[in-house]
Amino acid sequence: MSDTTQRTQWSSSLGFIIACVGSAVGLGNIWKFPYIAYENGGGAFVTIYLLAIFLVGFPIIVAEMVLGRHAKLNSYGTFKKLSKDNKFWKAVGLLCIFSATAILSFYSVVAGWTLDYFWNSLVGNFSTMTFENSGERFGSFVGNGYKQVFYHTLFMIFTAFIVLKGTKGIEKAVKILLPVLGALVLFIAGVSFYNYGASETFSFMFHFDFSTITKHGVLEAVGHAFFTLSLGLGCMIVYGSYLPSNVSIVRAGIWITILDTLIAVLACFMMYPIIFGTKMEVNESAAILFTTLSVQFNSLPGGNIIAALFYLLVAFAALSSTISLLEPVVSFIDETYNIPRKKGTLIGSLLVWFIGVICALGNGASDFFSHLALMDKLDYITSNWTLPVGGMLIALFAGFFVSKKDIQAEFSQAELTKFYPLWNICIRYISPAFVLIVILYKLGVF
Ligand code: PFF
Repeated sequence: MSDTTQRTQWSSSLGFIIACVGSAVGLGNIWKFPYIAYENGGGAFVTIYLLAIFLVGFPIIVAEMVLGRHAKLNSYGTFKKLSKDNKFWKAVGLLCIFSATAILSFYSVVAGWTLDYFWNSLVGNFSTMTFENSGERFGSFVGNGYKQVFYHTLFMIFTAFIVLKGTKGIEKAVKILLPVLGALVLFIAGVSFYNYGASETFSFMFHFDFSTITKHGVLEAVGHAFFTLSLGLGCMIVYGSYLPSNVSIVRAGIWITILDTLIAVLACFMMYPIIFGTKMEVNESAAILFTTLSVQFNSLPGGNIIAALFYLLVAFAALSSTISLLEPVVSFIDETYNIPRKKGTLIGSLLVWFIGVICALGNGASDFFSHLALMDKLDYITSNWTLPVGGMLIALFAGFFVSKKDIQAEFSQAELTKFYPLWNICIRYISPAFVLIVILYKLGVF
């Protein structure tokens, strides 16, 4: 670690939980989950997703935090230290850094979309938009690669600034803004139910027809469980590394898992009633956050202000996730190459910004970049492959390779008797086997 840096610690247990919830709750819940669950036919997909969250996600959250707190290093440093320089595990550490860099590159571009919708809602540009033409408006925006470069740049500047200044400010802001976002999501879901009814949404979400699910869908559900809980790339290793020893990792893990899942399901309840109620044509499912809500807000008094507030809060939720994606990259640069944090932040942010620019330009700016379709590729590779594989390896590492004594040191006495034995079985067998079966199934082995 460079000598200009001291390892910071979270201000309190609550501060830590809030920062982790801030990392987990983001575009994955509000933008991505509703559209992939919609694409994959609802109920059956949601069931696989929930199974993955509780059987795989939750045990791995705990594993990542345990490893990070024990090693007090970034993800690469953690693997290096705890494996005593083993080449394979160091490569897994590098895979984590790759995933963080790749995800942040396209995530920041999508986060930029919310800034555009914030601004245009605020100035009233959507006041005459209808469900018939909201798709067109979205299409013309995402077809404009240069505009997206602008918003992506803004977003990366905010992210880098916060990572540089430390986590205190963001902890405070998340503490206030996330509950406000949660309340607003609940309110909007209520408005959608009131305007368009709830029955079709419920039957879609809780209709367990497993014939609707494809091989791709199964892998996507599991991959998304990793994405939404910020797992499989060492983000929770890094956050755990700043965690004082008296804080319960198990309790933090439970809160993160429950709140994250709740927001994702509620986000579906905001959009689906509109889609079903208006029989709107969904050409581009990745657009539903923008095409449904931006119009529904017009039915409310002061709708444009509520809309602006909503998109701003979504941007904020995305920001608390982007900082948690940049942090692993910066702490890797800092701790591996002994580069001061300021310079490390600059290097990491510029690299991510550059890849993000290629992603953004792929959205209609030129044929060359469109053919490259880097954004879709990075999303697909990370969400479906590098996160589940990384997560499975993290589980095996914690379950079999790190000494039992080191792992047990991170649990309290009560947790060691009540929680640890079950967790140990999950992390050694159930979670890795679950991911492996899904991967083999996708590869066509059975
Ligand atoms: N969990 C975030 C979301 O659902 O939007 C995305 C994310 C953040 C993924 C941090 C991975 C990560 F390390």
